[in-house]
Amino acid sequence: VPTRLLIATKPPASRSRVRIARGALDALGRTVRGATGARRVALVTDRTVAALHGARAMRSLRGVGLSVEPIVVPAGERSKQPRRLEALWEAFGRAGLDRRDAVVALGGGVVGDLAGFAAATWLRGVPWIGVPTSLIAQVDSGIGGKTGVDLASGKNLVGAFHPPAAVLVDPDLLATLPDRHRRAGLAEVVKTGMAVDAALFRWLERHAGALAAGRGSALTQVVARTLRAKARVVRADEREREGGGRTALNYGHTLGHAIEAARGYRGILHGEAVAIGMRAAGRLSVEVAGLSASSLERQDALLDGFGLPRRMPGTPIGRLMAAMAHDKKRSRGEIRWVLTPRVGHASVPHPVDSRLVRATLREFGAQV
Ligand SMILES: NC(=O)c1ccc[n+]([C@@H]2O[C@H](COP(=O)([O-])OP(=O)(O)OC[C@H]3O[C@@H](n4cnc5c(N)ncnc54)[C@H](O)[C@@H]3O)[C@@H](O)[C@H]2O)c1
Ligand SMILES: [Zn+2]
Repeated sequence: VPTRLLIATKPPASRSRVRIARGALDALGRTVRGATGARRVALVTDRTVAALHGARAMRSLRGVGLSVEPIVVPAGERSKQPRRLEALWEAFGRAGLDRRDAVVALGGGVVGDLAGFAAATWLRGVPWIGVPTSLIAQVDSGIGGKTGVDLASGKNLVGAFHPPAAVLVDPDLLATLPDRHRRAGLAEVVKTGMAVDAALFRWLERHAGALAAGRGSALTQVVARTLRAKARVVRADEREREGGGRTALNYGHTLGHAIEAARGYRGILHGEAVAIGMRAAGRLSVEVAGLSASSLERQDALLDGFGLPRRMPGTPIGRLMAAMAHDKKRSRGEIRWVLTPRVGHASVPHPVDSRLVRATLREFGAQV
C-alpha cells in the first residue's frame, strides 16, 4: 500500500515529500519532474548498487526526458570523505550542472550523506532526491535532512542540514541487501524503539524472528513504522536544537561513532558500532538514569537475536575517549550521553563521570 508522509516543517524549503511504495524506483523520473524543475540530473550511486539497480533508475529518469550524468563511487563508509566530495563537485562541474538541475542519491546512507552534502554545497545548494536502498537509509538516514562526511578525527564532523526535495522508499530493493547489512540496519531500528517509540519496540519483539530471517513483508512493515517514528521526531525538532527531541535519536551514537573513528572506518559497520554503543548506553542508563535491568535485557536480547556484536575487543580506550571528545554532542568540556530511563523515552544528553565511562568501555572489551 503506497503511503505518503509529509515531513512538513517551516520554512517550506525544508519540506521533503516521502513516498513509501513497493516498486517506487520506477517512479523516479516522475518524482524528479514533480519535485524539481531539473532538465539534467547527476545520479550518484555506489558500485554495488549501480550494478543491481542502476539501469532501472536510469531508465526511469531518461523515460521522462531527463539527461543523466551517472557518478559512481566505491561502496562503503570510506567513500564518505572530503576527497570524494571534491570528486563529486568536479564531476558536477564537467556535467555543467546548474541551479535548475538536481542530484539524485541512489544508495545507502553513505551515498545519501555524501551526495546530499554535495548538493547542499554545489552552487550554494541545488535540490536533491533520495532513493535510499539499504535498511539504514530507508529507516533512518534517508529522511531528516542531515548530510555530511567523516573526518579522521570524527564522524560527520562536516555537514549541513539540506533536506531532499523528495524521498522514494522502495522496500523491494532490500531483497538484494546482504544479510550483514540488513542486521546492521536492524540496529538502527532497535535504536528508534529504545529512544522514541515503545510501541515499535514491542512490535520488534513480536517480529524479531521474521526480521532476522529477512522476510520481505516484515521488512516492508518495519521500514514504514520506523520511518514514521523518525518523521514524527524530525517534524518536532528539525534542526536538533539543544535539548530538543531529535537528540534522543543519537542514542547509542556517542560511543558508536567513536568506535567507527577509532577503527579508521574499517572492519565495522555503522549499525554494528551503534549496537555496541547501545549496549554500553543501556548499561549506563541502568547505572545513572534509572533504566530497569529487565528493560536492558530486552534491548540486548533483540540485538542478540539480530546477530549484532556485543564487544569491541582491542579497541584502544584512549582513541575512543579522544573521538568522543570530538563528538558534536560534547559541550562545556564534558562527554554527554543520550541515556534512556525507560524504553521509548531517551532523554537529553547526560554528562557521565569519565571513570564510569572508562570502566564501562573496559567491560565491553576496549583496551587500555
Ligand atoms: N544522515 C543521517 O541522518 C544518518 C542516519 C543514520 C546513519 N547515517 C549514516 O549512514 C551510513 C551507513 O549507512 P549504510 O549502512 O546504508 O551504508 P552504505 O551506504 O555503505 O550501504 C551499506 C552497503 O550496502 C550496499 N547496498 C546498499 N543498498 C543495497 C541494496 N539494495 N542491495 C545490495 N547492496 C546494497 C552498499 O553498496 C554498501 O556496501 C553511515 O555513514 C551513517 O553515519 C546517517
Ligand atoms: Zn546511526
